[in-house]
Order: sequence, then C-alpha cells, then structure tokens
Amino acid sequence: MIPFQHTGPGEARTTPVDTPGGRRCVSLLDLVGNTPVLRVGTPLPHPHPGFWAKLEGVGPATMKARAALAMLQGARRRGELADGATVVESSSGTLAVGLSFVGRALGHPVVIVADDELDEMTRRLLRAYGTRLEIVDRPHPAGGWQRARLERVERLLREIPDAYWPDQYNNPDNPAGYRQLGTELVQQFDRLDAVVCSVGTGGHSAGIAPVVRRRWPHVRVIGVDACGSTVFGQPARPRLMRGLGSSIHPDNVAYDELDEVHWVDAGEAADASRRLAAGTFVSGGWSTGAAAMVAAWCARQLDSDRVVAVFPDGPSRYWESVFDDGFRRRHGLTALADEPDTVDSVADSVGLRWARCVGVPDPCDRKAARSHAAGEEETSS
Ligand SMILES: Cc1ncc(COP(=O)(O)O)c(C=O)c1O
Repeated sequence: MIPFQHTGPGEARTTPVDTPGGRRCVSLLDLVGNTPVLRVGTPLPHPHPGFWAKLEGVGPATMKARAALAMLQGARRRGELADGATVVESSSGTLAVGLSFVGRALGHPVVIVADDELDEMTRRLLRAYGTRLEIVDRPHPAGGWQRARLERVERLLREIPDAYWPDQYNNPDNPAGYRQLGTELVQQFDRLDAVVCSVGTGGHSAGIAPVVRRRWPHVRVIGVDACGSTVFGQPARPRLMRGLGSSIHPDNVAYDELDEVHWVDAGEAADASRRLAAGTFVSGGWSTGAAAMVAAWCARQLDSDRVVAVFPDGPSRYWESVFDDGFRRRHGLTALADEPDTVDSVADSVGLRWARCVGVPDPCDRKAARSHAAGEEETSS
C-alpha cells in the first residue's frame, strides 16, 4: 500500500490563468467547476426542440467535487475538521470520488463506506487514490443499503480519532457548493425556461434553484427521482439505480423550490442513456439518462430550446450496468413509458413507471414541524 500523501497547497485555491489554449492551474482545486454546456438534439425517444446539458462529467471528479469541496472547507473553517484529520462518509460512488479528490488537495485521508453493489471500476480507482474502502455486504432490513452504510459510518466515527463525517444528506454546505453551478448557468445563458436536476441528497437542485430563480423568476425547476425512492413520498422498493433516489428523507431536499417532480424507472433511464450515447456521444449513467429524458419531454411541452439538464457524471462507471446488454436483459430493463403519467398526488403514482406530479410537498412536513417547534419554544420562554 502506498502511504497517503497530499500534493495540494492546503486550503488555497489559487487563481488559475485562462490562456487561449486552456486554463493553467496550480492547485487541484482550480479544476473544479466552469463546466461547459452542450446542445442535445437526440430524440429521447420523441423529437424535441433541443435542450442543453451541463456536463459535470468533464470535471476531474464529477459534479460531487463541488459538494465535497464546500463541505470540507466549511468544516475546516468551523474547526470541525482539524488539519490532517480523517474524513468518513457513506457514498454510492460519486461523492466518494469527489471526497478523494478534495481530501488529496486539502490533506485529509478519506474512508468511504460503500455497499456490495459498488462497481469494480470505482473500487479500484478509489483504492488507487489511497482511499480506504469499507464495504457493507447486507442491507438493513428496514432502512436498506443506506441505513446499513450509516451504521458502519457511526462505528468508524467512534473508532477513528478526530474523524469528521460530512453527512451529505443533511449538511447545508452540500447545496451551498452548487450555488456556483447556478451562477455558471446564469452566465452561460441569456434566458432559461426550465432546469432539470436529478435528486439524491437534494444537494444540486437545492443549490442551483434559488440562483436561477433570482435571475429568471419564471423558470421551472424540475426534480427527477427514481421509482421506489422515498424522497418524495413513494413507498420504498428495491432500486437498481444509483445516484438519484434514496431510501431515507434527506434534509437537503428543497421541496419548496421544485415546481414538479418526475419518477423514472431504471429501464427508462438506461434507455435514454443509451440513446444519448448513440445519438449525441455525450452520455452518462442512471441520473444522466433520467434527467435527459425529462428535459427532452419538458422542451417538447414548453416548445422551448431553453431547457437545461444537469448531467452529473460521464458513462464510464456504468459499463457493467447501463452499458451492459446482458445486465439490461437479466434485469428485464426496457423503457416502459415514453410519456409520463400525470398524477395529482404521490399516492396516485403507481411507482413502477415514469410519472410526474406538480408541486410535491415534503413527505415529512419538516417546515410545519419546525414552525411548530419554534411556536412551542416561544410559548415556553
Ligand atoms: C451520479 C449521481 N447523480 C445524481 C445524484 C443526485 O444529486 P444530489 O445528491 O445533488 O441530489 C447523485 C448523488 O449522489 C449522483 O451520485
């Protein structure tokens, strides 16, 4: 095992030099952000006016480098993460790569708790980066893989001195890390009519939404969840897709900021990713396929070519799933729907195929709980 070394200049993010030949960077951190957008015209599956894809896979550690950077810098600033202390996090893969990247730049060893379904390529990459991998091999009977991973995180936090847990589901620095992505969109477009984001921890949709809405008050922000995910209140079901969807209720989801929610099935998302690869070349995994399919639908509905979808990463980590015909056959993955069912409430969605609902409330009604608690505090003081 090669010992952990960090190569970066600590907290410093230098000013990169933009030259006609490209950006000249001194710090790893200077590589985060400023991703391009690409016009996508491939039918998904129907023809549409064209939408824009924000290509986060072009960055060195995908979209999640933004969240990782914001969370570790925030913790360092508040004194919660000491110089050289270890970072422990649960991740299905993307944040693991982001944290390994930022940990290297800031000088923090990283321990990632993942589950048995983590793809082999990411395992090898993480180990090569010097990241310690803790693999959970059994889902929690009620809370699924997520609960099982969180229990392992809790144990590691007790065992490793000064260890810090970013807690991407509930840490407000996660969405804050995506405000810059919103600012980039504001700079890249004169006008947008809709922004489509997949939702897992809720981080990027919650970070982007207020920034684009401030610039274009009419903009529709659309969240894309997985069928069988509990984020917007569907009953939990085993899910094949990674990245989008969750079996818990993350605090970071900005329910008030989302104009509508779509639930997409794995077969539909995989079909869209494959169509993207064949038709546009630029593609990605489950969340990219799902967001692209919804963006194409939205562009058609609004008859607008001013719709943007965030593509969180590239295709390479999905060579054993989305891009494996045998995997798709084994799991019976076909696109069940080419149009969403529009439902009036989450309870009306079947949870097995593409559906959409306008204005989905927080299933835990946290806002009401918070104001109730504040009211009680006021009464008792
Ligand atoms: C590949 C991928 N896409 C989408 C998401 C969802 O993004 P967010 O957590 O910001 O809601 C994640 C989250 O882990 C992810 O890994």
